[in-house]
Amino acid sequence: MDLQQYLSEADSLERDGSAALQSAADADTLEAARIAYLGDRQGRVKALQEALRGVAKEDKPAAGKRFNEVRTRLEALHADRKQSLDRALPTGDGEDLTLPARRQWRGAKHPVTLVIEEIEAIFRELGFTIALGPEAETEWYNFGALNFPPNHPALDAHDTLYLETGGLLRTHTSPVQVRTLQKYAPPVRVLIPGNVYRRDFFDASHAPAFAQIEGLCIDEGISFVDLKATLNRFAERFFGASRTRFRPSFFPFTEPSAEMDVQCGICGGSGCAACKGTGWIEILGSGMVHPNVLTAAGIDSERYTGWAFGMGPARIAISRYGIPDIRILYDSDVRFLEQIAE
Ligand code: DAH
Repeated sequence: MDLQQYLSEADSLERDGSAALQSAADADTLEAARIAYLGDRQGRVKALQEALRGVAKEDKPAAGKRFNEVRTRLEALHADRKQSLDRALPTGDGEDLTLPARRQWRGAKHPVTLVIEEIEAIFRELGFTIALGPEAETEWYNFGALNFPPNHPALDAHDTLYLETGGLLRTHTSPVQVRTLQKYAPPVRVLIPGNVYRRDFFDASHAPAFAQIEGLCIDEGISFVDLKATLNRFAERFFGASRTRFRPSFFPFTEPSAEMDVQCGICGGSGCAACKGTGWIEILGSGMVHPNVLTAAGIDSERYTGWAFGMGPARIAISRYGIPDIRILYDSDVRFLEQIAE
């Protein structure tokens, strides 16, 4: 092959190769063009290199120089094209690639969990620790140790599911008072969150399974003043500077007993739907722990006294967040829960 022929061969290869590589519209076409021109086996560049052998010795430097130019140029064009195809965003299929990404759904805490955690934090500041107990209880812990006489009318409010093994689903967190006192000697200050079960209708303000938080404080010389001071302090921290009131009540495991109301934060006490027109929201039952309960737990009731309370965080959540129906808390409807979630 004479030099002239070789050079024109090189020119046409450069022309065809550049066109093929530059116009490749996608990665597959580009790869096909690479194989056709720059491929190791049958690529046209390779063929041009082999054709160098047939060029006369004195023409070799010129032919070789031109060959190198062509090869370098085509390799560079291939690299450029590959880079821009890699970077390009796919198009078509009706996608709008300028749309902001969808925020990832992470999940969040349930309103009742938020209330429980906030209450735990307030009582921790006051020196309380958290204790837990079993949801499947014995009758003795749920009733007997708590001074419920057999067949007492107070049992009516505590109907529940009885288990084949002889136990029952606990109707309140109060049995954990006794379990705690059996395990730890006074002074005891514990907060006991947990789920409880009752044969209640599922309506706007009741559920057959719900959370409670129990509080218990036992030491020497504890009086009703400590109960009021602690619970007022809690109400101030949780509800803001609300007024509170204590109404006499009855529980078999406390004597005296009181229910505590906080002034309705929604209407400020003038009466609204949230407080059923009374201006007050009942948040807990409480009282001085009955000596029989201390005795049942093996505590010397002459030496030690104390107080306890039990409250329903779901009730507190609906009044705090202005939720009209307690059942919403059980629906797992994210559109609702998201509004409160943190
Ligand atoms: N256990 C009671 C209930 O579920 C609530 C309660 C009232 C708990 C008074 C207490 C208390 O610790 O002192 O109805």
